[in-house]
Amino acid sequence: MDTGVLEQRFKEVYGRKAEHLYFAPGRVNLIGEHIDYNGGRVFPCALSFGTYLLMARREDRKTGFASMNQAFRGEFDERVFENKPAEWVKYPLGVLKEFADRGFDPWGFDVLYFGDIPNGAGLSSSASIEVVTAFMLNDMLNTGLDVVELVKMSQRAENVFVGMNCGIMDQFAVGMGRSGHAIALDCGTLEYDLIPLNINGYKLVIANSNKNHDLVTSEYNVRRSQCEQALAAINREIDAKHLCDLSVAEFEDVKHLIADDTVCRRARHAVTENARVNEAINVLQKGDLVRFGQLMNESHRSLKEDYEVTGTEMDTLAEEGQKLPGVLGSRITGGGFGGCTVSLVAEDDVSGFVEKLAAVYHEKIGLSAEFYVADIGDGVRRIY
Ligand code: GLA
Repeated sequence: MDTGVLEQRFKEVYGRKAEHLYFAPGRVNLIGEHIDYNGGRVFPCALSFGTYLLMARREDRKTGFASMNQAFRGEFDERVFENKPAEWVKYPLGVLKEFADRGFDPWGFDVLYFGDIPNGAGLSSSASIEVVTAFMLNDMLNTGLDVVELVKMSQRAENVFVGMNCGIMDQFAVGMGRSGHAIALDCGTLEYDLIPLNINGYKLVIANSNKNHDLVTSEYNVRRSQCEQALAAINREIDAKHLCDLSVAEFEDVKHLIADDTVCRRARHAVTENARVNEAINVLQKGDLVRFGQLMNESHRSLKEDYEVTGTEMDTLAEEGQKLPGVLGSRITGGGFGGCTVSLVAEDDVSGFVEKLAAVYHEKIGLSAEFYVADIGDGVRRIY
């Protein structure tokens, strides 16, 4: 990344030099979808692309926001909390509000963002903006909060200020990722292990469907409340804090308590996905990539049939991908309704995979997919 271009733009926008540069990555989730808010285990990694934040302090109690990706620019003070903007600035402003709510004064900065994560692709561009903003404020205000606390504040910003009832996975991966590792995160307890991503001879290939995941907020919140309904029904007979506290066998015993078939399928996805994640982490550590790939495929099927968050575009990308030579597994990643798939592909077959999948996807759907070989990077940090 040539930061000279960013620095030049900062000068143009704010008429002076930037003081510090921060960075937070995007993330790709390998397996464990829609279970972070069900107390399940997820398995994401941070990417090497993400969001850059350049900043300088200013004398008054206002904050300027600009982006090299979005036209909207603005200067705000605390009155904005009463009158939430609809534009992208709601993500960083939600974070400022979290700091204000904890008694810190988060104003008095000029900020410029630049993201090289494809927008709206389900690779957590929003979590990345939130976490980089929280990290910068924490650094500037010397609050002494640790990164896990910043992760929680960023999730809250998105839940409360933005109105997307997301779980903690994205912000956690963006904050706590480590190069060459995936994070086995228990979202019920926030205990985590960094697992070396030993996939020698294979690559993780991200395919962006270029189908914007515009339904994601409304449908996402519906899925989340269906899971709450399922848990409430189960709680009539057994005590469970989260759906993912149940094993698949335990779920089979109590599923009759869930009257609505759709709600029951949502819960079945959560329980079986959690079991798949546990197995996937195990087999990866044993080097059984073939089984890991099968679990990715099963995850996609469950997200398609039980959770219904895929759609024709994503099913085409994943299912056509699964058929290609050298592919061990392929699945949708992130919240769904568009976005990206992630596939485990033999190194020698990557170029064939990209070429063939691009062609078949274009032929069937009429859209052009974009491909990235995932480079697993570190979590949020200050560059200077
Ligand atoms: C979105 C949310 C996450 C998670 C995923 C699905 O990315 O922000 O919290 O629920 O969807 O796994």
